[in-house]
Amino acid sequence: MNILNENKLAVLLSGSMWNNIKVLDETGSTNDYIKTGAEANSVVFARVQTAGRGRRGRTWISEAEGNIYMSVLLEPDFEPEKMPLIGFAAAVAIAETVEKCFGINCGIKWPNDIVAEGKKLCGILCEAVQKDGKYRCICGIGINLEKSPLDTEIPAISVKELCGREYDINEFAALLLKNIEFEYNNIDETIEKYRKYCVTTGKEIKIISDTEEIIAKAVGISENGNLIAGLDGKEISVNSGEVSVRGIYGYC
Ligand code: BTN
Repeated sequence: MNILNENKLAVLLSGSMWNNIKVLDETGSTNDYIKTGAEANSVVFARVQTAGRGRRGRTWISEAEGNIYMSVLLEPDFEPEKMPLIGFAAAVAIAETVEKCFGINCGIKWPNDIVAEGKKLCGILCEAVQKDGKYRCICGIGINLEKSPLDTEIPAISVKELCGREYDINEFAALLLKNIEFEYNNIDETIEKYRKYCVTTGKEIKIISDTEEIIAKAVGISENGNLIAGLDGKEISVNSGEVSVRGIYGYC
């Protein structure tokens, strides 16, 4: 049966940094679940979420079984300023894993939506918390493997719609976690890899904040993951926590 299985995952991930791998039938949000008391390097998957959350207060529709809804809890020993890089590292790891397992060409729409054929395949929600004076990062990942949500404002697509290849969901999830581990341990190289995947750079974009919308041209990604945009002959640096971005001719 192609469903997530704790024992299979534990075997596939033995020797990796990941411990406490849990698979829940259902939870509100895996990010909320893992926030309460889990150890560093824990992982939780849910087959279904009843209150999945997206970036900027959006809902992440999570009723389709066979999709990935997962969170990892990290307690990095690097400087807190580098914490935002974890989302970029996860995005690179996901794009690489989806390409390797399914042969699908992926891009990353800044900051960390994985896209294929101009539609969203995966979203990442990173949240920072503190425990005993240490910074922790909860990185939540939703991947449309089987089904993309309908009726969303953002055009979405699933792996199943893109490719008919048979796969084992446990093998996919284990490779993904191994690739996240690699990127996390090589966080200083993440942005260089990220830039190669980023489909936002070079495009005319709409930068949407709580108070305004600005049309600008995306010209690059800085070392800390900010989007550099050209506006009225100047360059501005945009932080992913504060805005969302759309292409002016479509989602990407
Ligand atoms: C986004 O693109 O807006 C981010 C979506 C993140 C969804 C995942 S699913 C697992 C984890 N739990 C949540 O409630 N959200 C993240």
